[in-house]
Amino acid sequence: MRSTQVAIIGAGPSGLLLSQLLSRQGIDSVVLESQSPEHVQARIRAGLLEWTTVQLLEAAGVGARMLREGLVHDGIDLAFANGHHRIDLKGLTGRSVLVYGQNELQRDLVQARAASAAVLWQVSEVMLHDCASTPRVSYTHAGSRHELRCDFLAGCDGYHGVSRASVPRAQRAQYERVYPFGWLGLLADVPPLHEELVYAHHQRGFALCSMRSRSRSRYYLQCSLEEDLAQWPDSRFWDELRARLPDCYAARLLSGPSLEKSIVPLRSFVTEPMQFGRLFLVGDAAHIVPPTGAKGLNLAAADVRVLWQGLTEFYRGGSATLLGEYSARALGRVWKATRFSWWFTTLLHRWCADPFAERLKEAELEYLAHSAAASRSLAENYVGLGFDQPEAP
Ligand code: FAD
Ligand code: PHB
Repeated sequence: MRSTQVAIIGAGPSGLLLSQLLSRQGIDSVVLESQSPEHVQARIRAGLLEWTTVQLLEAAGVGARMLREGLVHDGIDLAFANGHHRIDLKGLTGRSVLVYGQNELQRDLVQARAASAAVLWQVSEVMLHDCASTPRVSYTHAGSRHELRCDFLAGCDGYHGVSRASVPRAQRAQYERVYPFGWLGLLADVPPLHEELVYAHHQRGFALCSMRSRSRSRYYLQCSLEEDLAQWPDSRFWDELRARLPDCYAARLLSGPSLEKSIVPLRSFVTEPMQFGRLFLVGDAAHIVPPTGAKGLNLAAADVRVLWQGLTEFYRGGSATLLGEYSARALGRVWKATRFSWWFTTLLHRWCADPFAERLKEAELEYLAHSAAASRSLAENYVGLGFDQPEAP
């Protein structure tokens, strides 16, 4: 039977980043992924990195292309009431964010791990055993069944993965909010509308103007959950986006053929605790946030950081103190990001015919635009909260 120090389920950003960081500390890991590298790399998802995520990627030795090609943003734009207002992230917090697509990051991570034989792609029927004391994983790869013994298991297999589901329901608490709308996203090779991201509140629904580079734009529209993609030819998307932007932006929006179009539902979800014996849940396997605050990928990286520190301390000095604190330390940050993502989503979207609630949102947007204290609170959460101790190993 093969053995390793840390068996990692899932080769998304959290699984590969953890494996990469551990290898730089001389800690052995094996990553089991159900999909092919091409499939994982092609998924169009997040696009915005907090600076602490950027620093962690640098520490993992995968930061060079990101720093070369990523776009540093010092602010965001809030559009409402046919006008717009800039939130000066850098001025209010001293920090910026980096625009760098998750699929680019995934490519960098796959490339970094490609040198080792530590990632097994296209495994199936992954099962976790004996998580409380002597953990093992069984799986099918290239037509035959295998078993992998390990000291620890990292469940980095996303919301639909097997890791969280392996823990009996009675041993975990789940908190969930499903929003009654989704996001319709479109990717196109046209220059972005504006040099910074534009978050637009409008009677017709929320819209977001984001980007992947100076020549590639990513746009989102709030949509109903029953929406049929076939009913959204590109022309309808561009018309609707224009209708939700202030006149000054609508007039200069450049449209073009879509490279990708998809609908995602919005959800807040947290499972507690994030540790069960020798199994640690990481990233989307443990929590989901609606994308409005751009926190999903950053939270996954923050979990990885905490677990990496704990495992490093364990293998270097034999102490399991930090590992034992994993769940509490990760959840502190998770709940703050869950609150922020819920608040920002609620503020910017429109989904029920409640004129009172709508007037309150308009008042809050005005307040945000004109109060330094309110702007600073938004900026502080948007750029990402700092870490309490300890620092990187
Ligand atoms: P994932 O990226 O989900 O990776 C999990 C990996 O585990 C996958 O590769 C999966 O194939 C694999 N896996 C699953 N089950 C098994 C199994 N049984 N055995 C082996 N492997 C398995 N965040 C933002 O900040 N902004 C956004 O705009 C944004 N858009 C998103 C759009 C979509 C459609 C989705 C799903 C998420 C989006 N997110 C966004 C969230 C962000 O992409 C995630 O938070 C991030 O991918 C989390 O990384 P992860 O590695 O924890 O999980
Ligand atoms: C994206 O570019 O995909 C993106 C950016 C910011 C968000 C959500 C998505 O808040």
